[in-house]
Amino acid sequence: MTLHLTMCRLCTRSRPDLLRAICQLTASYPNEIEIIELECMAACDDIPAIMIETSYYPHVAPQDLISHVRALLKISA
Ligand code: FES
Repeated sequence: MTLHLTMCRLCTRSRPDLLRAICQLTASYPNEIEIIELECMAACDDIPAIMIETSYYPHVAPQDLISHVRALLKISA
């Protein structure tokens, strides 16, 4: 199963802490995660925001993102 993470390129790259978390996830789970970067995901008021599949996560903290992804991949911390 590939998990699709959709995010705004500009907002994500302006948040080093979130970008680090995403890089950590993609390095740890290269075959399980696909990153989809949009120019804007119309979530400018909720940044950092990410969609994991069809679930929307506004104001997501980097550690929470890692936890959400691991839970969806059924990987314990
Ligand atoms: S510019 Fe990043 S969500 Fe709109």
